[in-house]
Amino acid sequence: MSPDNDHILVTCGLPYVNGPCHLGHLRTYVPADMYVRGLRKMGKSILFVCGSDSHGTPIVVNAEAQGITPKALVTKYHRHFDDVFKSTGVEFDYFGDTDNPSNHERTQEIVRALMEGGYIYPLEIELAYCPACERFLPDRYVEGICPYCAKPARGDECDQGCGRHLEPGEIREAMCKICGGKADYRKQIHYFFRLSVFKDFLLSYLATLGGTSSARNYSLEWVKQELKDWCITRNMSWGVQFPGQNGLVVYVWVDAPIGYISFTEEWCAQNNIDWRVYWKDKARIIHFIGGDIVYHHCIFWPAMLKGANYSLPNDVVASGMLKIDDKKFSKSRGYVIWVKDDYLDKGLHPDLLRYYLASYTSHTKEVNFAWNLFADKVNSELVGAFGNFLNRALTFATRNFDGRIPQGNIDPEVNEKIEATLEEVILSLQEYEFKRAVDSVMTLADYGNTYFQAYEPWKLIKNNKQMAGSVLRSCLQIAKALVILMNPVMPTKMEEAWKQLGMEGTARDASFKDVLLPVLEGQQLGKPEILFSRMEEATVKDLDKIFQNRIKQAEAREKGLKVDSTELIPLISSSDLISE
Ligand code: MF3
Ligand code: ZN
Repeated sequence: MSPDNDHILVTCGLPYVNGPCHLGHLRTYVPADMYVRGLRKMGKSILFVCGSDSHGTPIVVNAEAQGITPKALVTKYHRHFDDVFKSTGVEFDYFGDTDNPSNHERTQEIVRALMEGGYIYPLEIELAYCPACERFLPDRYVEGICPYCAKPARGDECDQGCGRHLEPGEIREAMCKICGGKADYRKQIHYFFRLSVFKDFLLSYLATLGGTSSARNYSLEWVKQELKDWCITRNMSWGVQFPGQNGLVVYVWVDAPIGYISFTEEWCAQNNIDWRVYWKDKARIIHFIGGDIVYHHCIFWPAMLKGANYSLPNDVVASGMLKIDDKKFSKSRGYVIWVKDDYLDKGLHPDLLRYYLASYTSHTKEVNFAWNLFADKVNSELVGAFGNFLNRALTFATRNFDGRIPQGNIDPEVNEKIEATLEEVILSLQEYEFKRAVDSVMTLADYGNTYFQAYEPWKLIKNNKQMAGSVLRSCLQIAKALVILMNPVMPTKMEEAWKQLGMEGTARDASFKDVLLPVLEGQQLGKPEILFSRMEEATVKDLDKIFQNRIKQAEAREKGLKVDSTELIPLISSSDLISE
């Protein structure tokens, strides 16, 4: 079935709500938001959903460690993420929660459908069990030795060795994370998803999957190797109950992606639309995710959807990772930048960060964040090139043409440049090449500066005012195009620029086509104001100091600690820290 381009569903990987939002999250969400805003400017109708991933053992373990219920923990961080997204201009149409009743229902319905289709079977396995705590130890409740590489590992993942995902029961020499005691192994019935029977389906599905080639190629390789059936139940009470089995919940990676469906349902219910249009018909489904969860989205998820008879994702767009100061992102080692505490609360404008993330490198590559790089980009690109051009054109027109758009012809060469830029932006967005899109807009800004400089309107105004008028009107046409094209990246700043240009309506409502609509002669301009200001060295130093201190603290903490269980607690942001 070829996708219907009138119904496009864009989703972002759901954040685990067990700690605050950090820059690594925005690495995926900002380009997704930019994409959605861009496509809307092409006249497409899009539904953009995301929400909290509220289940899984880390959340339960963290809540226990903080002495609160899992519900209280996820409620707190659900609000936090929702706030941070709003403050950074990441505008979902709907931000749901996988613990909502509709997600419990949809998950159980899908699990039942898979059982009816014969895709789920029970199997007796040996699981780590703590005799002291009298409980089975799922995932993060257990630590031990990796059966593949013999390095210390967590119950669900060999985090210090080969990096393999570990299935329940696989870990050796299990230790209980709650009491620190030695665990033994006991038999228990668990349920498995017959992933192996989807091999042929996946091979043909992946061959035509859109999105980034990274997602498609990695998953094709995995499928060609071996598909192991997945254990999809856990011994816990927090989560979605496995139908008919008290004390068993489904594995978090079952109910989390189903959130994409239940959030669509919730939004559709509020807007009187049939959700099946998106998930049972031929809408186009696009998932934006972090590069570390490709397996789940390209293998496990389409197999589940296929088995339960739902629509399949058309595109999976996987972002590269984020490094901080050239080091691998790590909360426990202090290599982390919290979006709220370290950025927004320092009075920094969200659009600058959006610009940085969108333009640093191509979507599938690694972004490196450092405060000095951030300041350089702001100062040279936004202040020096983009802002400078807007300000020069506006100030000149305001001073010499009575605050109005001058009379004169728009240079055909200018229109051609704008048109070429528009085409490049559209093409780049469609190919998920966000840097290329931003770069082409910046090239237009450079062209604007060169154009202004070459025609020397400050000389022309003295002896050829008509020519000066044409040059300025042409420059203002470029300015208008810049603002519309950059609007998806820097929505708030471009709204300010739109006002300064004295344009009707909002930059948000302007479509890409409007870049070629001639700016009107005689139209009143707004008041020119500095759009971007320089980041001073002192500011950069202060920001970097906060970050350096965090690394030092983390090192000290590491040395001062024994084996310990607090490692499971993500280092919470300073607003939550009791000072030492
Ligand atoms: N919470 C997961 C993570 O941060 C992502 C879940 S995405 C979904 O890795 F598909 F499950 F929703
Ligand atoms: Zn290993």
